[in-house]
Amino acid sequence: MESEGKNKMDYELVGTSKVYRNVRLGVRVAIGDNSVIGQPWKKGMPENIVTIIGDDSYIGNNVTIEAGVKTGDKFTAEDGSRIARNCIFGDLVAIGLNAVVLEEAKFEGMNRLHALGFVSEYSEIGYGAWMGPQVALFNAPHPKCPKAKFCERDYAPRIGRFVRIGGGARTIPGVIIGDYALIGAGSVVLKPVAEKSVVAGNPAKVIKSIGELNCWDKAKYGIEHPYDVQNLPKAPEDLEKRLAELGWRIKKE
Ligand SMILES: CC(C)(COP(=O)(O)OP(=O)(O)OC[C@H]1O[C@@H](n2cnc3c(N)ncnc32)[C@H](O)[C@@H]1OP(=O)(O)O)[C@@H](O)C(=O)NCCC(=O)NCCS
Repeated sequence: MESEGKNKMDYELVGTSKVYRNVRLGVRVAIGDNSVIGQPWKKGMPENIVTIIGDDSYIGNNVTIEAGVKTGDKFTAEDGSRIARNCIFGDLVAIGLNAVVLEEAKFEGMNRLHALGFVSEYSEIGYGAWMGPQVALFNAPHPKCPKAKFCERDYAPRIGRFVRIGGGARTIPGVIIGDYALIGAGSVVLKPVAEKSVVAGNPAKVIKSIGELNCWDKAKYGIEHPYDVQNLPKAPEDLEKRLAELGWRIKKE
């Protein structure tokens, strides 16, 4: 229910969705029903907090995007997803059905967070990282400790570039995952993961490196290994410039 705040009239309706003032929508942005873009998170908050949705983006039904979020181009927020304030997304990021991304999380670009994913506050997700359904990345080591709000930033997840996180995996606060690593389905990751390694289980242990992964049916699919470790993908050279344009370096203390 809308409170009696000053913000009450500060939006326009696009179909059945609310788009608040100070939202800059790019071109060709499609918006479904009952979504809210640029949602103020408290009464009387500063009016100059800009929300940006990049070109060619798609915001589904029942999506909430709080004020201060900035997305690159080709951003997708599927039905029921919720993106909290001041998150920054590079180009080509897709947030899945009913997934939650909490405040000030940053995604470098070319990322997928699948259905029911949970990304905690201040997380940093490297370019090309992919997260399966029900992945959860945590940041409060001792929930409800009186200092929890202060240490969440220090213990925020850091996910490297081109990491793949299998469905249902969880990372414990403070975990850093190296570039190209692969996390097995359902794993609980308690320790830092070295780049290019494959970890699995609870607690997650190194089982091999991505170069040692074999295709489960080589005859049928015609490949030996799922990853060509000699030709791993790289982030675009102008990535830093692009992220700076999106405000990546602006850190709110
Ligand atoms: C981790 C993973 C990549 C390993 O694949 P793999 O190397 O071909 O697996 P292997 O069959 O060689 O398994 C090696 C060992 O790890 C164990 N293992 C594999 N995956 C595991 C997992 N997710 N959790 C716990 N143990 C696992 C195996 O039981 C095996 O143990 P053993 O040597 O004692 O028998 C794969 O099992 C996985 O979890 N992929 C992610 C699937 C996913 O979530 N996809 C996205 C959503 S659709």
